[in-house]
Amino acid sequence: MDTETIMLVSSFQRMIFASHNAAAQAAADLIISTVRAKPDAVLGLATGGTMEPVYARIVAAFKKGAVSFAQVTSFNLDEYVDLPPDHPNSYRSTMDELLFNHIDIDKARTFIPAARSDDSAARADDYERLIAETGGIDLQLLGIGGNGHIGFNEPGSSRDSRTRLVELHQKTIEANARFFDDRPMPSHAITMGIGTILSARNIAVVATGTTKADAVHAATLGGFDAACPASALQEHKHVSWFLDAAAAGQKAAA
Ligand code: GLP
Repeated sequence: MDTETIMLVSSFQRMIFASHNAAAQAAADLIISTVRAKPDAVLGLATGGTMEPVYARIVAAFKKGAVSFAQVTSFNLDEYVDLPPDHPNSYRSTMDELLFNHIDIDKARTFIPAARSDDSAARADDYERLIAETGGIDLQLLGIGGNGHIGFNEPGSSRDSRTRLVELHQKTIEANARFFDDRPMPSHAITMGIGTILSARNIAVVATGTTKADAVHAATLGGFDAACPASALQEHKHVSWFLDAAAAGQKAAA
C-alpha cells in the first residue's frame, strides 16, 4: 500500500519501522505525496529533533525535482514567547535552517505563532483566524513530548483548547534547555491547542526512541486522558503513527 492510499483509507495506522531514519523517510513520503496530490496543500509543521531527518528527506526530494512547495502554505505548531524570531533557537530560525531556506516555499506563507507575552491573546486569535481562512490544515505533522505533550499542550490541557499562551512544564524545560546556551530557556510558549490540532484533516505523528515509549503507549490506548495530551488523537479519524521499535515499546533483539 503506498502512502497516498494510506492517507485516504486509514482511520488509525500504527506503523513500526526499523530505525528513526526509516520512520522519518515514511513520514516525509506522506508529506511529499500530499503535496504532489494537492500542490496548494496547507501543511501543519512541527519542530524537535525527531523532525530533523524528516525535513532532510523532504529537502533531498525537492533537490531531485520530485516535489514543489511553491503553492504550499504552512502553519507551525508553536513558538517560544518573548524570543526574537532571529534568535538561533526560535522555531522560526529552526524551520528556516532545516527546511524553508532549502525548498521553493514562499516564506510569506510560512506561518509561526510568534508572540510577546503582552500581545499573545490577540496573536493567538489571529493565528486561528488565519488557519480557518486558508481552509484548514490538510496534513498536520506532530512529534510527541516524553510527557505526552503535542505542540506545547502540556499535561492538563483541555481537549478543546485552541491557540493560546501556555506555561511550559518543568519536564519540557529540562528536555529543551540543552538548546539554550546563551540565555535561559523561555518559560512560556504560544501553541496551537489540542482542538486546533484535531481540526486538521490528516495527522502524522513521528515518535522514536525509548524516552517516547510510555507517552506513545498512553496516547494510543485507553481513550482521552488529560495527563497525556496526545491521547486526544484517538478521537481523530485519520491519524498515522510513524514509530521505531523502541517508541513502540518493543524490546531490542538480543
Ligand atoms: C518540543 C515541541 C514539540 C515536539 C516535542 C518533541 O518541545 N514543542 O512539538 O514534538 O517537544 O521534541 P523532540 O522531537 O526533540 O523529542
